Amino acid sequence: MAGLGDRSDENDILTFALKERERRQSSPVLVPGDEVRRRLNNPELLGMVHLIDPKLGFGVRSIRLWVNFYGNDEGNLGWKVLGHRHLIDAVIHVLRGRGHSIIDGARYDWEAGDFLCVPTYAWHRHVSTGEEAFKYIAGTTTPFSMALGVSVHEDERYPEYWVFAQKSEEARTTLIPGGAEVPELPGSQSKAAFRGDQALQAHLYEHEVAFAADEEQRRRVGRVLVKSSDVNFGHTRMGRVAYIVDPRLGFNTKVMSTLLAEVPPGHHSGAHRHLYEEVNYVLAGEGYSIVEDRRYEWQSGDALCIPVFSWHQHFSTGAETARFLVHTTRPAMENLGYQVTQQGETADY
Ligand SMILES: [Fe+2]
Ligand SMILES: [Fe+2]
Repeated sequence: MAGLGDRSDENDILTFALKERERRQSSPVLVPGDEVRRRLNNPELLGMVHLIDPKLGFGVRSIRLWVNFYGNDEGNLGWKVLGHRHLIDAVIHVLRGRGHSIIDGARYDWEAGDFLCVPTYAWHRHVSTGEEAFKYIAGTTTPFSMALGVSVHEDERYPEYWVFAQKSEEARTTLIPGGAEVPELPGSQSKAAFRGDQALQAHLYEHEVAFAADEEQRRRVGRVLVKSSDVNFGHTRMGRVAYIVDPRLGFNTKVMSTLLAEVPPGHHSGAHRHLYEEVNYVLAGEGYSIVEDRRYEWQSGDALCIPVFSWHQHFSTGAETARFLVHTTRPAMENLGYQVTQQGETADY
C-alpha cells in the first residue's frame, strides 16, 4: 500500500526528471511535407493536413501546426466559414489565394504572403474571394487551452453569447456576434461603493470582475494584420529574423509568438535552447538541423518540432535562402516567469 515515505513514491519523484527528458527526446522532430507538397499545386486536392499536434504523438503540450487547403464552393460569393471564436492564440500565414476576414466587426484584406493574428476570443469569419483556392498554414495554442481546461469554441449556430449580438441593428448586419459593439469599460470607473477598511478588498474584487471587459478593450486595440511588404528582417545572434506577431509589437497575444527566420545558402543559424515549445515550417530552401545529438534533413514543405530545452541549429545547403515560419509559446512562459533562453554558437552571417 502506497503511503508517506513509501520507497516507490520516492523513486517516482526522483526519476520524474529523467522520464520527462525521455518523453521529450522520444517525440518526433522531423515531419515530412509530402502531403503538403502534393496538395499545394493541385487545385483538386483540398482538406486539412495536420503536421504537429499532441494527438499525433508529438511531445508538444501547448502548440499545434497544420495546413488548410480550401476551395471556392459558393460561386461568386466565395468560400466562407461560420462566424466563430475560440480561447486560443491563432496566427494564419496565407500561402495561396486572396480574401478578407471580419474580426470584431473590422475588415482585413489579405493575400498570399500576409499574416493574420486572430485575437483570443475575437468573433471572426474568413472569406475567400480569389480565383485561386485559399491555402494557409496555421499555428494555434489549442493544446495549451485544452490542458488548462479552458478550450472554449463557439460558432454562430451555438453561441453562448449570441444574445450579445442582438443588441443592435448594426450588430446583426456584421453577422459576427458582438462585432459592431465595443463594450463599456468598467475597469477603474467601477461604481462599486467602497468604504472604510473594505476599500482594498472591494477594489481587488471589482478589478477581477472587470477583467474580461478590460481584456476585450486591449484585444480591440491590438494589431491583427501583417502585410508581406511590412515584414522587416534584422540581424540577431541566431541569424536574420523578422518578428511577425508578438506582444512586444502591439499584438494582444498572451501565449504564442510568430516569426520568420532566414539562413542564406552555405551558412548556419546560431544555436540555442529555450524553456518553451517551438514548431517550424520550412517555407523555402533545403538543409539540415542539429537537434541535441541528432541530424534531420529537411526541404521546403517539411516541418520541425523542437523539444523543450533542446539545443538546435539550422544549416542551409541548397541554392536558395532557407526560410522558416516559426511559432513558439515563449510569451506564455514569460507571463508565468518560466522562460529561459540560452545562446550557444552565433550565426555565421
Ligand atoms: Fe478561427
Ligand atoms: Fe529556437
